[in-house]
Amino acid sequence: MQETIFSLLDVERVYTLGTTGWFRRKTRQLKALDGIRLELKHGDTLALVGESGSGKSTLIRLMLGLEPASDGRVLYGQHDLAHLDAEARKRFAREVAFIYQNARGSMNPRMRIADILAEPVRLHRLCEEQAIPARVEALIARVGLPAGLLQRFPGELSGGQVRRIAIARALAAEPNVIMADESVAGLDVSVQAQVLNLLRDLCRESGITLVFITHDLGVASYLCEKIAVLYLGRIVEQGPTHDILSTPRHPYTKALLQAFPRFDAPLCASLKGEIPSPVNLPKGCRFAGRCAQVQSACLEVDPPLTLLTPERQVACLFPVVNPC
Ligand SMILES: Nc1ncnc2c1ncn2[C@@H]1O[C@H](COP(=O)(O)OP(=O)(O)O)[C@@H](O)[C@H]1O
Ligand SMILES: [Mg+2]
Repeated sequence: MQETIFSLLDVERVYTLGTTGWFRRKTRQLKALDGIRLELKHGDTLALVGESGSGKSTLIRLMLGLEPASDGRVLYGQHDLAHLDAEARKRFAREVAFIYQNARGSMNPRMRIADILAEPVRLHRLCEEQAIPARVEALIARVGLPAGLLQRFPGELSGGQVRRIAIARALAAEPNVIMADESVAGLDVSVQAQVLNLLRDLCRESGITLVFITHDLGVASYLCEKIAVLYLGRIVEQGPTHDILSTPRHPYTKALLQAFPRFDAPLCASLKGEIPSPVNLPKGCRFAGRCAQVQSACLEVDPPLTLLTPERQVACLFPVVNPC
């Protein structure tokens, strides 16, 4: 049995927005995450997909303990992230690494690559000071870059090289889990493929658990064995990647797939309108306003995430029967 690494139990994240109007002080609540239930097991590779604004980055920030849940619990193993003592927090910081969306911006431009990679090794006291240079060389080799780059500054590297350094820095503390937010967005297709191959090989070789945010279903299917589809702060469908992409059961997943360009099918603008604001969510299903198969019950009932098979869950009153 695979060991459970993360359990999210009915997690909510509410942001209180500032005042509106000069004459009346009024605050509004924005529900960025609502009733998230998710389990991550050792060695899982999970893609979080969904349009911009669906709550992917917020979910990762909560799983990294960077922000508290407004309600519900985020467990790392058996431990609630909200109640880690100093020792457990240190261990968590070493075991769970994060690759930032803006890899270049996350590095100090005045530090050489060698120092950027040595920093986590020193911080977590993973080896003696004199062994650090060899360790840093091994790290840069592991991400397929020459040791000559160690004396350069981040600003002197290409986009692809910076992403590899960000991966090397994440690996420096020998984590169990890597979380990555849109880590290949904005790269040329060929460089993107190299970075994806690297991440895939690293996860397979080292058994690292991966949570990868992307809005690209192709990237998700290449890298991850499981998918959770988010819409307006909710997981609307989750399960094995292959099953979800071949037979989507939520109309939103189906629409995302149809909007995704494929060589063998014409591009179809199936997803009308834009994702609405999570302030003042409508009654009933939050996807109803954009759903191609909406029925009157959908405007009344907010469908819970329900098991279809032991591995597959969907939050829809009328799951798609004919996926194509
Ligand atoms: N710090 C914050 N304050 C207020 N609203 C926020 C904050 N962070 C995120 N949001 C809102 O929460 C929703 C989800 O955002 P986010 O998690 O960034 O989505 P995604 O990563 O899927 O694009 C959005 O409506 C966003 O505007
Ligand atoms: Mg985001």
